[in-house]
Amino acid sequence: MTAPLGLYVHWPFCARICPYCDFNVYLNRGADADAWSKALTNDIERWADRIERQPLTSIYFGGGTPALAPVSVVEDVVETAQRLFGLGGEPEITLEANPNDADEARFDALAKAGVNRLSLGVQSFDDRALRFLGRDHDAETARRAIDAGQAAFSMSTFDLIYGRPEQSLDDWRAELSEALSYDPEHLSLYQLTIEPGTAFASAVNAGRWAPADDDVQRRQYELAQDMTAAHGLEAYEISNHARPGAESRHNLIYWRYHDYIGVGPGAHGRLTIDGKRIATKAPDRPEAYLAGAEGETEALDEEAQLIERLSMGLRLKEGVALYADDYFYANEQRVFSLQRLLDEGFLRHDCGALRATTKGRAVLNRVLYELLG
Ligand SMILES: C[S@@+](CC[C@H](N)C(=O)[O-])C[C@H]1O[C@@H](n2cnc3c(N)ncnc32)[C@H](O)[C@@H]1O
Ligand code: SF4
Repeated sequence: MTAPLGLYVHWPFCARICPYCDFNVYLNRGADADAWSKALTNDIERWADRIERQPLTSIYFGGGTPALAPVSVVEDVVETAQRLFGLGGEPEITLEANPNDADEARFDALAKAGVNRLSLGVQSFDDRALRFLGRDHDAETARRAIDAGQAAFSMSTFDLIYGRPEQSLDDWRAELSEALSYDPEHLSLYQLTIEPGTAFASAVNAGRWAPADDDVQRRQYELAQDMTAAHGLEAYEISNHARPGAESRHNLIYWRYHDYIGVGPGAHGRLTIDGKRIATKAPDRPEAYLAGAEGETEALDEEAQLIERLSMGLRLKEGVALYADDYFYANEQRVFSLQRLLDEGFLRHDCGALRATTKGRAVLNRVLYELLG
């Protein structure tokens, strides 16, 4: 079976910049649809000339807030992808949206353009928490948006952020119950990360508030595992839960370390060209991207590939393939660390698959640090 190939499209604009976000985002000041269509489709054409073409299995419009992109841009990207690569069997075409963009006519137009999976940034069902997170929607808008998304697209998912200061275990239980009452086939539950350089990092550094206690966050993580599992949603990835068969095909490409093209400002890609694994990155600034500036490419050596492959693969419940002839075993210190992590119950290694146990997944960053240094 041929490995899948995905296309990631970054739309870098948002109606408002959230204080916790460190993605490549800029305040939306209106976008020239033709100029963006041209820049994105040119970029896709450039990659089509450089790699071996095969039908795409997924397209992912991420951001930023791609629901704010002119629908004609989404149409042009999907058409170009179809023309140059073809779209395999039932391609998964996802688009991220904020609850405020959940306009029925807009959703219908996006569905007509080919989008069949909506990823909605709900973040919380609590108005106070939404204000703390600097969101421009309230809980009622989020509820309506989930309904609209479920009606307009054949697949849909939404995101929540937990581990917020002042969020008790009971608060989180209530939010999870509400999330599950929508009977979602897919749910992303992200622990709040204080990213350097964000407004939240400045607030924490200035002592205005403190991040949630580690122990509370661990209990919230465990509660999420239990409640989603009881609802038939498997934790197939550390922050992602799905009914069997409803896993995000596009995101699985990242975690399984397969190839994907990245277009749009700051987008990353991983491609195999002439047998070499290449990391690609488009220019960050929208103006530079629109002007057609070349991005960066870097050939990844075995060491870099190992680190990426294991860091991604251990996020998955299925784990990552690791056989005796793997480059991993060339480093004695790593073999020693692996044995210790296996003995202490953080990792399991059977039938050629290395997996993080439930205990290991709860502290995955530490496990990866010990394993890979
Ligand atoms: C980059 S956003 C794009 C989607 C959309 N613009 C939105 O905000 O809903 C994707 C998701 O990443 C998550 N996210 C972003 N920054 C985060 C952080 N610092 N900690 C936890 N989750 C974060 C949010 O749940 C968000 O829905
Ligand atoms: S979290 Fe989403 S809406 Fe907020 S700034 Fe980041 S990408 Fe934009």
